[in-house]
Amino acid sequence: MAPTRAGGSMSDIPGHADSGAVAIPRQPAQALEADHVVEVRNLSLWYGDSQALTNVSMGFPRNKVTALIGPSGCGKSTLLRTINRMNELIPGVRTEGEVRLNDVDVYGKNVDAVEVRRRVGMVFQKPNPFPRSIRENILYGAKINGYRGDYDELVERSLRQAAIWDEVKANLKRSGLALSGGQQQRLCIARAIAISPEVLLMDEPASALDPISTVKIEDLMRELVANYTIIVVTHNLQQAARVSDYTGFMLSDEQIKGQLVEFGATNDIFTAPKDKRTEDYITGRFG
Ligand SMILES: Nc1ncnc2c1ncn2[C@@H]1O[C@H](COP(=O)(O)OP(=O)(O)OP(=O)(O)O)[C@@H](O)[C@H]1O
Ligand SMILES: [Mg+2]
Repeated sequence: MAPTRAGGSMSDIPGHADSGAVAIPRQPAQALEADHVVEVRNLSLWYGDSQALTNVSMGFPRNKVTALIGPSGCGKSTLLRTINRMNELIPGVRTEGEVRLNDVDVYGKNVDAVEVRRRVGMVFQKPNPFPRSIRENILYGAKINGYRGDYDELVERSLRQAAIWDEVKANLKRSGLALSGGQQQRLCIARAIAISPEVLLMDEPASALDPISTVKIEDLMRELVANYTIIVVTHNLQQAARVSDYTGFMLSDEQIKGQLVEFGATNDIFTAPKDKRTEDYITGRFG
């Protein structure tokens, strides 16, 4: 069963059942060997003639935080964007292989990219609230999706889940842009979770923030993971060690662009990496 949450949720949003689109279930139709919400299989990607991912295969366990680490340009953001089909918005991108969400190929025939992006939310490095009120930031996606629940309840619940309610509840009409950077980022997380995604992609979500805001985002990730599956890109290895359950180390070299070198439990990756290249990276010998 999908986790149930108080108040309105996905079930309040009309589906696309009559559009001929394939419905993506909240759980795989058949039990998989491991409970991976997202599974990437032999994924390769090219920007024009230039390869950015090579044969990446990995699973992202449900209700866990998985960190993606690796030197700049190794393909972390590219891999993240394949999961919610955001790379498709970039001209000249070609993808091979599969990305499965609850065992449905998100690139499959009749799968709606908009539906995929609703199920897989994204938070970017630079907080990007809409130039609207805090309340409207939260309600924007819900309105587009025809949310039928109580708006006030959705606003409060989303802001509470993103640990920013107490700081903004006095005036929800304030512009989202009037908040501090750290508050804006939590507002963006609240906006992302307001449409009840299953997966949250976070691309260096705290790298533009001060240390106190960074701790808040890290604490928040540990809280959110009870209800969501989080995939986070970070250059901060201490952060990866603190917040993640699993870690994938990626690398690009002359021969192979955007490869997954090693994936495993975060503790193992940081204390007993199997690959020399992982060890070199986490001990600061390159990257
Ligand atoms: N929109 C794009 N068009 C063309 N090439 C791109 C595009 N985005 C990324 N690339 C290339 O793909 C490769 C991987 O880039 P990507 O942004 O995924 O790396 P990254 O690991 O996220 O790096 P960083 O840590 O610096 O954010 C790089 O060689 C980059 O130049
Ligand atoms: Mg990146």
